[in-house]
Amino acid sequence: MANSMPCVALFLLLVGVAAPAVFAVTEGLLPNGNFAQRPDKSGMKGVVVTGRNAIPSWEISGFVEYIEPGHKEEDMILTLPEGASAVRLGNDATIRQLINVTRKTYYSVTFVAARSCAQAEKLNVSVDPEFGVLPIQTVYTSTGWDSYSWAFKARHTTVTLSIHNTGVEEDPACGPLIIAVAIKTLYPPYRTKGNMLRNGDFEQGPYIFPDTPWGVLVPPILEDVHSPLPGWNIMSDTKVVKYVDAPHHKVPRGERAVELVAGRECALLQEVPTVAGWSYRLSFSVGDAANGCVGSLAVEAYAARESLKVRYESLGTGGSKPAVLEFTAIANTTRVVFQSSDHLLKSDATLCGPVLDDVKLVGVRKPAPRRLRL
Ligand SMILES: *[C@@H]1O[C@H](CO)[C@@H](O)[C@H](O)[C@H]1NC(C)=O
Ligand SMILES: *[C@@H]1O[C@H](CO)[C@@H](O)[C@H](O)[C@H]1NC(C)=O
Ligand SMILES: *[C@@H]1O[C@H](CO)[C@@H](O)[C@H](O)[C@H]1NC(C)=O
Repeated sequence: MANSMPCVALFLLLVGVAAPAVFAVTEGLLPNGNFAQRPDKSGMKGVVVTGRNAIPSWEISGFVEYIEPGHKEEDMILTLPEGASAVRLGNDATIRQLINVTRKTYYSVTFVAARSCAQAEKLNVSVDPEFGVLPIQTVYTSTGWDSYSWAFKARHTTVTLSIHNTGVEEDPACGPLIIAVAIKTLYPPYRTKGNMLRNGDFEQGPYIFPDTPWGVLVPPILEDVHSPLPGWNIMSDTKVVKYVDAPHHKVPRGERAVELVAGRECALLQEVPTVAGWSYRLSFSVGDAANGCVGSLAVEAYAARESLKVRYESLGTGGSKPAVLEFTAIANTTRVVFQSSDHLLKSDATLCGPVLDDVKLVGVRKPAPRRLRL
């Protein structure tokens, strides 16, 4: 018995370390996150889901339809990817799921969705008390299917993730289709000695489904809301930046980068503490993601009173070049801003733009010391 105390202590220590991996999600599809487990017939009326708990692992409310693989409907303007099942969130429809998480930890949620009617559709994604209203309006792929991301900070060990269609249309079935929902733990990166920016290489970001070649959209984020792209804020009315991965794109460095797909309608920015009067050097790479974005691309960078337009002639086959912007801080925080100069279209008429990666900010020199008065 005398030996049991250290054992218990060790056990708790191990459990404490291992708990997030064992009991809470870290990365991947949510239980029945691809809706492959179909609802019970008794909980359905045609394609309409009538039972609150009919879809395994999910709870629903409002007008929800369940679409089986291969299902064809004359009013459906898009086709489901091979083998995929979908839920269609009609009027005031919500799907929700309880998930086990680790308190005070940041998570990103990625879901694959498409709009099914012509309306400007929106989804309210929430984990109480946080929410984000994501515009499902602009389509960024030729198939109509896009991956969207959102992030939250867990306040409890069990939270409810809800996805709600706030719209009410004449046709109650009108609303976005969802085919997959996944989650990923975010480890917000810190500033390092070699880089005053957080996550300047964009290696931390939302989950990307391995079988989706179209990246993940990071929607505009209100200030003081958590970003699925830690450190960075996206400012726009309805437009996004696209988060791209090395398995499906050329990225200048590492595994991830961002593609600025919305021209001047969207800005990517980060605020950094600086010292007014000191000089800084902002370096970054501009390129193309090898996704067929051909033409004269340009990234504009802004910091303090300086700006720089970096042109990049793209053949759409991948490549990048470095750029540097030097500036003198005029305040104790400096906003570093990136934007694509233009809208560009690929041959399939979807939006594309320059890729940005490897963003670094360093102080280059202090102001000359004042002479001492003698
Ligand atoms: C969440 O945790 C509870 C108890 O800790 C467990 O019963 C349940 O199966 C877990 N849910 C998931 C989806 O892992
Ligand atoms: C989004 O959903 C959350 C949680 O249900 C709610 O508190 C919030 O008011 C909703 N926001 C909008 C704009 O619908
Ligand atoms: C930064 O400057 C603002 C206004 O000039 C001031 O209110 C604030 O206290 C300063 N913050 C720091 C950390 O020095």
